[in-house]
Amino acid sequence: MTQKTAHIKSFGCQMNKLDTALVTAALKDVGFALTDKVTEADVVLINTCSVREHAEQRVFSHIGHLKHIKETKPALIVGVIGCMAQRLGSDLLQNGTVDIVCGPGQIPRLTELVKQAIVKNEKQLSVAESIRKVSDNPELEDFESVYDSADKDIPGQAYVRAMRGCDNFCAYCIVPYVRGPEVSRPVNKITEQVKRLANEGVQLVTLLGQTVNKYKYSAGEKTYTLADLLYEVGKIDGIEWLRFVTSYPQKEGFTELMQAMADLPKVCNYLHMPAQSGSDTILKAMNRHYTAQQYLELIDTARQIVPDISIAGDFIVGFPNETNDDFEQTVDLVKKACYKNCFVFKYSPRPGTTADKKLQDNISLEVKKQRNYRLLEVQEVISAELSRRFKNRRVTVLVEGLSKKPHLNSADGHGDPQLVGRTDDDWIVVFNGPVSLAGQFVKVEITKTSPLTLFGTLVTQKPLYHC
Ligand code: SAH
Ligand code: SF4
Ligand code: F3S
Repeated sequence: MTQKTAHIKSFGCQMNKLDTALVTAALKDVGFALTDKVTEADVVLINTCSVREHAEQRVFSHIGHLKHIKETKPALIVGVIGCMAQRLGSDLLQNGTVDIVCGPGQIPRLTELVKQAIVKNEKQLSVAESIRKVSDNPELEDFESVYDSADKDIPGQAYVRAMRGCDNFCAYCIVPYVRGPEVSRPVNKITEQVKRLANEGVQLVTLLGQTVNKYKYSAGEKTYTLADLLYEVGKIDGIEWLRFVTSYPQKEGFTELMQAMADLPKVCNYLHMPAQSGSDTILKAMNRHYTAQQYLELIDTARQIVPDISIAGDFIVGFPNETNDDFEQTVDLVKKACYKNCFVFKYSPRPGTTADKKLQDNISLEVKKQRNYRLLEVQEVISAELSRRFKNRRVTVLVEGLSKKPHLNSADGHGDPQLVGRTDDDWIVVFNGPVSLAGQFVKVEITKTSPLTLFGTLVTQKPLYHC
């Protein structure tokens, strides 16, 4: 087979982006060249998300776009991988444009499916026959420990999976149905992988799990929690920053986790812990196992142990039967929690979930939009106040690369373009500097702030670590 070119686009969460990185490495390993341009590719793979209807619609419109390309290039192979592949399976093959469907538990087989599709010119389907196999599958563990997850778009950073799947079954959520039950990966596999990444120059590792603070792995006498895992990974030379997402609001192990954050300089002072709602009635209907008060107590514990911790939250507005009063309780929680930022989503019924089966999507789109807007408005005031505290301060930033916002991409007096990076507590920082700084730590003095972004000038160009 002459060398073929592949293009892969990711539509989902960090878990999905990590799968994209692994699949990319696997394709290269079997001889594919990767391209950023869809039009140059012999194979186009779409890594999909099912979390909201809108996410799926975006994928269908992308498939529509590929259909046009395929009209002039009939040999083009189109593959759908990820959560939609698991959810919709063979139905996706009914779409004339789609040639390959491969679920998230089957990615070790993807390169073979692609080869078969090219050689035999036949459609290929591989989804887990039982949902347990999506997460609990030795092939997946082997695949994960062979391939590199370094994010090529952001030098020096990588995602590493701590856990697969989710057992929580929040009433609204599709994830447990497409990603399978919770499985914690072996500590030694994780540390081996992180060592390899550190040798490749990775300095920031983000440990991933849908409920990452539920991590539990037994080896001999010892059962490792996420806090224990952080201590282990924290020992690895070359890794300077360590994050973990996403945390479920639970008391079990929380104090220990915050203590690990306080004790370990490498662990970033950042906690992403979605509340989803501030109303106990709605939390119960969502099958979230805490009250608003208990959630706020966890936030208090976090701030007592790590005083300058920065916290991010997720909320769903317009869950079935959410009254104005329920929503006001959410507004109240947002005000009390003092988040750095929060992500707000309009409830989207997902087929097969308990909320979809038992409850009517009875909040109008108009009301969902108003609540979404209002919550973000409240958060913006808080974020603006928090960000103002950075004015005239020097912060350490891990540089990601060129700032993606074109209007910001202006060069300064020295001809340096605008760069973007993040602080350890996840603030976005924009400043001018040479693009060669991507992947390095620098000091920036903050001169201007906005609710979500800090702007400043470069103080040092010398890498702070690894001189
Ligand atoms: N495992 C993480 C997040 C998973 S999905 C957690 O439990 O926090 C990311 C976010 O999408 C969720 O936090 C939730 O706010 C949102 N979400 C999930 N299902 C949704 C749905 N059906 N409609 C709207 N938002 C949803
Ligand atoms: Fe979905 Fe809940 Fe699991 Fe998060 S914890 S992935 S919201 S079921
Ligand atoms: Fe992630 Fe979406 Fe799947 S949020 S786990 S890609 S459904």
